[in-house]
Amino acid sequence: DFDAAELKLIIDAHRSLEGPLLPMLHAIQDSFGHIPAESHAPICDALNITRAELHGVISFYHDFREAPAGRHVLKICRAEACQSVGGSELAESLLSKLGLNWHGTTPNGAVTIEPVYCLGLCACAPAAMVDDRVVGRIDAARLDTLLAEAGA
Ligand code: FES
Repeated sequence: DFDAAELKLIIDAHRSLEGPLLPMLHAIQDSFGHIPAESHAPICDALNITRAELHGVISFYHDFREAPAGRHVLKICRAEACQSVGGSELAESLLSKLGLNWHGTTPNGAVTIEPVYCLGLCACAPAAMVDDRVVGRIDAARLDTLLAEAGA
């Protein structure tokens, strides 16, 4: 459940930093697992920014999520090297097979699918990452195996 006291501690610890918003959002996501809607107004008040500015930042940085993730996170690389060897088609067909959009979570709560922009594994493109484990040379069968292992 949402812990307003925890949020206040995080906001107070970051509000007087120079460039406070990104470290504040990272700390909130570390603590809550996402950026809860309840945090938007207190963040804007503390930093004197508008809701539109806050939304712009949250949606620009692909690391921030607006809803809790599933038990596992599968990140699929959408940067150049991976795109050029079919990464985007793989991702699109996986998402359509699962009936999800980017950042969506399988109905059983097992896996959230997120985009990532280069995993440093371009030589083994297309690349993906399951939780903290990077996986190179993915194809449809490999993705199915990863999803099955993650309980999707
Ligand atoms: Fe995908 Fe570098 S572009 S790992």
